[in-house]
Amino acid sequence: MSASEANSNLVENNQPKRTLTGVTTTGIPHLGNYVGAIRPAIQSAQNSNNEEDKSFFFLADYHSIIKCSDPKQVHESTKAIAATWLACGLDPEKVVFYRQSDVPEIPELAWILNCSCSKGLMNRAHAYKAAVDANLSNDVDADHNVTMGLFGYPVLMAADILMFNATHVPVGRDQIQHVEMARDIAGTFNHKYKPLFTLPSAVVDDNVALLTGLDGRKMSKSYGNTIPLFGDGNPQVDPEKQLRKAIMQIVTNSQAPEDPKNPDDSVVFEIYKAFATPAEIADLRGQFEAGIAWGDAKQILFEKINDEIAPFRARYAELMANPKELEEILMMGAEKARRHSQKQLDKTRRAIGIKPLAKLK
Ligand code: TRP
Repeated sequence: MSASEANSNLVENNQPKRTLTGVTTTGIPHLGNYVGAIRPAIQSAQNSNNEEDKSFFFLADYHSIIKCSDPKQVHESTKAIAATWLACGLDPEKVVFYRQSDVPEIPELAWILNCSCSKGLMNRAHAYKAAVDANLSNDVDADHNVTMGLFGYPVLMAADILMFNATHVPVGRDQIQHVEMARDIAGTFNHKYKPLFTLPSAVVDDNVALLTGLDGRKMSKSYGNTIPLFGDGNPQVDPEKQLRKAIMQIVTNSQAPEDPKNPDDSVVFEIYKAFATPAEIADLRGQFEAGIAWGDAKQILFEKINDEIAPFRARYAELMANPKELEEILMMGAEKARRHSQKQLDKTRRAIGIKPLAKLK
């Protein structure tokens, strides 16, 4: 459902709105992550002043090992993503901000849900099907390099969501199917045992920009065409200079400096739209049509993005240099998360018949 539909829907059982989303810890946050996930999530958490409307944000580190078997990368990415969210203004007092692996009830619930999830449902998952199709077109065994982790990925994601009875799950389009699978799995469990799990809905915000990368394809770590939000992690290089350098590398056509340019066909203009006000956008549109040089347009884009990001840099650097503070924040989040997850897992185990045989004093 769209963001506005999700907001106007009355949630089942009159439950309070509960937003939950996870970030897989495999990369260093880039501008596309910022515009598409980080900024809208932080804004919506800030705008909510209803005490009951709890938001849950977590680092999906058990999901990361499905795609990435480099321990150093998983570790560094966890640190960089946590520091990014906090530096950009996520308030860990107001939301529940935690690391998936610090909540052992989640993988326990995933096992239980595995037993309420038909294999056929998983056969239809896009990510698994894409892996099989790639194998078949390469003339290798259909399940070549397909782990049980990849195959069962949506079950772990269902456990993430159902554990906290999330009602709203903001995700990118590629994840809608997974949230629908979580709904299916919850429905099966609720029907088989008792109605313990809230049916979640995916929330896809059509107003959130999907950024194009340096080379004109969708900005994505897997294409290597991203603009890092806080530099590439090398403390020797000034992150502001790195940002400017990356922006200067955006591909453009070979139109001469004074030629009129089509703003709607330009990555520079597209990214600008995600940062500027309507008046500023209209102004740059005019400058494109009047024939602004690419270098000048990129400089305007750089300044606009830099104005928004610069105030976060010091806090990011401080957190990256002081992982102890990050760890403490995550531990506080885990404690809050486990207050919910321990109760939910206990109810689930009782529902399936796993409970103490007698009360011991
Ligand atoms: N699979 C999601 C992604 O790759 C990350 C994720 C894991 C998630 N668990 C989740 C998102 C639960 C929302 C809810 O983007």
